[in-house]
Amino acid sequence: MSSEFRLSMHGQWSGRVAFILAATGSAVGLGNIWKFPYITGDNGGGAFVLVYLFCIVLIGIPVMMAEIFLGRKGGLSPINTMGMLAREENRHGIWRGLGWMGAIAGLLILSYYSVIAGWAMAYTVRMAAGVFVGATADGVTSIFVALTSDPERLLGWHTLFMLMTMTIVSRGVQHGLEKAVRFLMPLLLIMLLILVAYATTTGAFAQGFNYLFYPDFSKLTSESVLVAMGHAFFTLSLGMGAIMAYGAYLPKNISIAKTTFMIAGADTLVALFAGLAIFPIVFANSMTPAEGPGLIFKTLPIAFGQMDYGILFGTLFFVLIVFAAWTSAISLIEPMVAWLVENKNLSRIRASAYIGVLTWFIGVGSVLSFNVWEKATWSIPGLFKDLTFFDTLDGLTANVLLPLGGLFIAIFVGHLMAKHKVKEEMNSHPLLYTIWYALIRYVTPLLVIIVFLKAIKLI
Ligand code: PFF
Repeated sequence: MSSEFRLSMHGQWSGRVAFILAATGSAVGLGNIWKFPYITGDNGGGAFVLVYLFCIVLIGIPVMMAEIFLGRKGGLSPINTMGMLAREENRHGIWRGLGWMGAIAGLLILSYYSVIAGWAMAYTVRMAAGVFVGATADGVTSIFVALTSDPERLLGWHTLFMLMTMTIVSRGVQHGLEKAVRFLMPLLLIMLLILVAYATTTGAFAQGFNYLFYPDFSKLTSESVLVAMGHAFFTLSLGMGAIMAYGAYLPKNISIAKTTFMIAGADTLVALFAGLAIFPIVFANSMTPAEGPGLIFKTLPIAFGQMDYGILFGTLFFVLIVFAAWTSAISLIEPMVAWLVENKNLSRIRASAYIGVLTWFIGVGSVLSFNVWEKATWSIPGLFKDLTFFDTLDGLTANVLLPLGGLFIAIFVGHLMAKHKVKEEMNSHPLLYTIWYALIRYVTPLLVIIVFLKAIKLI
């Protein structure tokens, strides 16, 4: 795809737009609409949001620039890109391990991501059937509980979503989807605006707004700081090679900085709109923000059940969420499939089938986490409590593996690559370059290390 892209008859401009669309498709997903609101609710609101925004600026944006840079320089699947660049810099081959860790993280994330995307698919059908018209908060909650306590049904939706994802990946036609991203993303933003407009009529808009934007630092723990940082990686698809894989298709003369600002800006906007839509509904219906992973599924249907054209808007909205999840899911598994194709001489179809079955199988554990295995939890006193299989995978990937990937990327680019090469390849405005280089060399790695050490109570 890389050479085809660079030689595209639409020239470099088309390259830039296509890259931004693909990367935005990867970044904007369940992380923005499902995860951001619920972890904000779990972690007390404003102060958590502020830390998250700081992490986007001081960690996420520099790491995204570094990942695109590495991808463009290497031009291969992340595992082989890291291997090649390490060799070029006379560094140890162990750096391929960074690519490996990312590919495995992507597979693990997809295993539960698909289960949640399945919930959104189930809700699309319920919306279209008018199940939520006039529903109360209690009614909506019991519909959610009925769905998640039924393992067979969850398994069916999980299977369907995995099939949808692996079909696209196996045909290698991801770029076909980018055309759809071009108009579906703006549509998603419009739908969110409609929801925000509805939220202003609930009588609790100010309360929701304050919850989201007025920081109460007494609610902040070292664990919530870790979750905020982990989410900055998760929401921008960083630390596991997804953006690195897409960076391989970026033409040389395109500004990495500008492109990154656009992707991160769009991603953050979607998350904040989702929060602004959801929390007023929470307060207007006397619900609590700390509802956990079911938060959007227990709140948004109330809004759609009450507004004019609610069936139409609600169905469209959940279709858009499924689509956003789909374009993210594809990028989660691409690094692993690309590596199998490059190194094991497998066809894309075979590679996708193997990886798809493995991922599906791990996903069954997350399906069961919401019902049969709900009580099968484990704890490490002083660190975390009562984690299900799903919580464990989510915590391990978003809060450990992705930040660790980001840390190693920052160290590789900031300390192990020859300075002049980095400068030459980045080719950006001198001041911007100086700021970025200082961030990726010192600030980003230091922050990640401090947050890690604080979370495990070592400092
Ligand atoms: N960024 C996606 C989201 O916010 O839903 C999730 C994701 C995609 C994470 C790709 C990591 C990744 F590599």
